[in-house]
Amino acid sequence: MKYIVKSLPEYFKHQDKALENPELFWSEIAESFTWKKPWKKVLTANMHKAEIKWFEEGQLNITENCIDRHLQEKGSDTAIIFEPNSTQEKAQHISFKQLSEEVNKMANVLKQKGIQKGDRVCVYLPMIPELAYTMLACARIGAIHSVVFAGYSSTALASRINDASCKMVITADGSYRGAKEINLKSIVDKALLDSPSVENVLVAKRTQCEIEMTSGRDFFLSDLISAASTVCSPETMNAEDPLFILYTSGSTGTPKGMVHTTGGYMVYTAHTFKNVFQYEDGDIYWCTADIGWITGHSYILYGPLLNGATTILYEGVPSYPDHNRFWEIIEKHKVNQFYTAPTAIRSLAKQDISHVEKHDLSSLKILGTVGEPINVEAWNWYDHHIGQQRCPIVDTWWQTETGGILISPIPFSTPTKATFATFPLLGIQPVLMSDEGKELEGNLVNGNLCIKTPWPGIARTIWNNHKRYLETYFSAYPGYYFSGDAALRDPAGYYRITGRVDDVVIVSGHNLGTAPIENTINEHQIVAESAIVGYPHDIKGNALFGFVTLKRPISEAEKSALKIAINESISDQIGPIAKLSKIQFTFSLPKTRSGKIMRRILRKIAANEFTNLGDTSTLLNPEAVQEIIKNREK
Ligand code: PRX
Repeated sequence: MKYIVKSLPEYFKHQDKALENPELFWSEIAESFTWKKPWKKVLTANMHKAEIKWFEEGQLNITENCIDRHLQEKGSDTAIIFEPNSTQEKAQHISFKQLSEEVNKMANVLKQKGIQKGDRVCVYLPMIPELAYTMLACARIGAIHSVVFAGYSSTALASRINDASCKMVITADGSYRGAKEINLKSIVDKALLDSPSVENVLVAKRTQCEIEMTSGRDFFLSDLISAASTVCSPETMNAEDPLFILYTSGSTGTPKGMVHTTGGYMVYTAHTFKNVFQYEDGDIYWCTADIGWITGHSYILYGPLLNGATTILYEGVPSYPDHNRFWEIIEKHKVNQFYTAPTAIRSLAKQDISHVEKHDLSSLKILGTVGEPINVEAWNWYDHHIGQQRCPIVDTWWQTETGGILISPIPFSTPTKATFATFPLLGIQPVLMSDEGKELEGNLVNGNLCIKTPWPGIARTIWNNHKRYLETYFSAYPGYYFSGDAALRDPAGYYRITGRVDDVVIVSGHNLGTAPIENTINEHQIVAESAIVGYPHDIKGNALFGFVTLKRPISEAEKSALKIAINESISDQIGPIAKLSKIQFTFSLPKTRSGKIMRRILRKIAANEFTNLGDTSTLLNPEAVQEIIKNREK
C-alpha cells in the first residue's frame, strides 16, 4: 500500500500531496486492493448537501480483500486469535483458510434463510468468533450488518432492529462477561415482541444456558452450519453500496444509524490501520474494544484483516479473573500493538503495580488509546509502566461517523506529547471554528473541531434520515463536517481534543446522548422534569448526574426508592452503561426566559464548581441555582 509514513518529513511531503490532489492520492492507495471493476470517478462531493461518493462505479467485495486475497500466501497464518473469557478455556487460532470456510458457510446459511443483497441483519452477539464470521458473511452476500452492542437492553435492541427493519437477528444463547453470565436470547425474545420485521433468529451456542426457541422462527446456527458448503462466491457490490449500519447516540431522542459504504470505508480503514499501527507481517495486534462499537468494526475486524494482520478477539473484561488479565494476554500472545481506552487504563492504574510487573511486556512496540480525552496521569502511567518508555502512544481521535482515525501521531515519525492527538492523518484537513463560524487561523487557538474536505471513510448518511445527517453534521458550519468536539491547537500545530460541546456525554468511552436518558426518567409518574449532565470521574472519565424535579413532595424513603427505580428503568430502556451515578431531587431547574434548561450551570454545579457560574441574572428563576447548590448531592 502506498503512503505508509516512515519519518516526519515524509509525513509532511505526503500530506501536501494528499491535500493538493486528494483524488490522485486516494486512487493510488485504492489501487492496492482487489476490485472487480475499476472506479470511474474517485470523488464526487457536495459538503453543503452532505452528498459524498468515493470510487463511483467501482465494484468489489470487501471480504475478497479481507480474506481471499490472503489465501494463497497466508492461508495457514492466523487471522484471528480468540481469547475466551475464562482462563480455563484454550485460545483458538483461526487461520485465514479457516476464516474463509467459516465465513462462506455462514454466508450460505444466511442465503438459505432468505437473506439477500441489501437486506439488514441485526447482530447481537458476544465477542466470540461467530461475531466476526457473521459480519463478514453479511458482507460476502451484500447484506447490511447492524451490530448492536450485546450490553444494550431489549428496548434499545428493538428500536435499532425496527429503525433498519432488520429481517434477521443473529445472537447467542448467552454471553460471558467476567464472572457474569447473561442470557442474551431472552433479551432478543423480549425485543422481538415489538419487532415485526424479523423473520428468523439464528442462535450460536456459547453458554449452553436454558433458552426458549420459537418453532419456525429460531434456529441453532450449529445445526445449519454443519450442512453448509464452504464455498460462496462473493456478491458484486458497488463502492457506494452500504456495508453496515452502526447506531450512535445523539443529542435528541432516537439513535442515529450511521451508514458506512463499501469502497471508501475499506480503503480508509486499511490505510489508517497500517499507518497508525505500523503493522508488519508476523505482528500480533490487539484492540480491546467491543465489536459492538466502531473501534471494533474498523480496528478489530476490517482494518487488520484488510492488511492480512493477526488480530486478537478477547471475549472478557480487564478485571477477570483478576487485574492481571490484560498483561497476561499480552505476555501469552506476545502482543506487538495494544490499543485500549483511557477508562481501562485509569482503572488498571489504580491496581497494585505488581499486576503489571510480573509480566513480560517486552513484545510491545506501539500503544494506542481511543474513545475519550486521556488525562496526563493516565498517559504517563501507560507510557511508563506498559510502554516502559520505549513504545510510542498513539492517542487516536475519531468517531463512529468518521469510519476511521482522523487525528493521531504516526509512531516513530510524529513525536508524541501527553494528551495530544497531534497531527491529522494523511488527507485529513481539520479546522477550528469560532462560535461565529470563522476558521481560526494560526496556532494557540481553541475552537470547534470541523473537517474541511471529505475523506473516504466518512459515513454517507443516517439510515432513512438524510435530513438529520445534514442538520447534525453539516449545518452548524455550512460546507464543513462538524464533529461536536472542541479542540485546541498548540504552538507546534498539534491538536488536543478537549471534549464534547453538545449534549453527548462520554462515560467510560461510551457515547451517551442525554435526551434518551431524560425521556426515560420523565416516564416515572412522579417526575416532572429532569436534566442530565456529565461530571468528571476518576475512572470513567465522566459520570452522569441527574437533576430531577418532582410533581409533589415525597419522603426520604420514597426518594431512595425512586433513585433505585430510575436507574432500573434506565438500565432496562437503554442499558446499564447509562445508569446515573448521582441523582439530586430539586424544586426547580435553572431556566432561561425562553424556558430552556441551562445545562451549562448544572454542569458546573455537578463538577463542584460553585463560583464562576457565569451570568445567572438572565435566568427565569435564579433562586433555583442557590437551592441546588445548597442541597448539592455529594
Ligand atoms: O468526543 C470524542 C471522543 O469520542 C467521540 C466519538 O465517540 P464514538 O462515536 O463512540 O467513537 C469512539 C471511538 C472512535 C468523539 O466525538 N473521542 C474519541 N477519541 C478521542 C476522543 N476524545 C479525545 N481523544 C480521543 N482520542
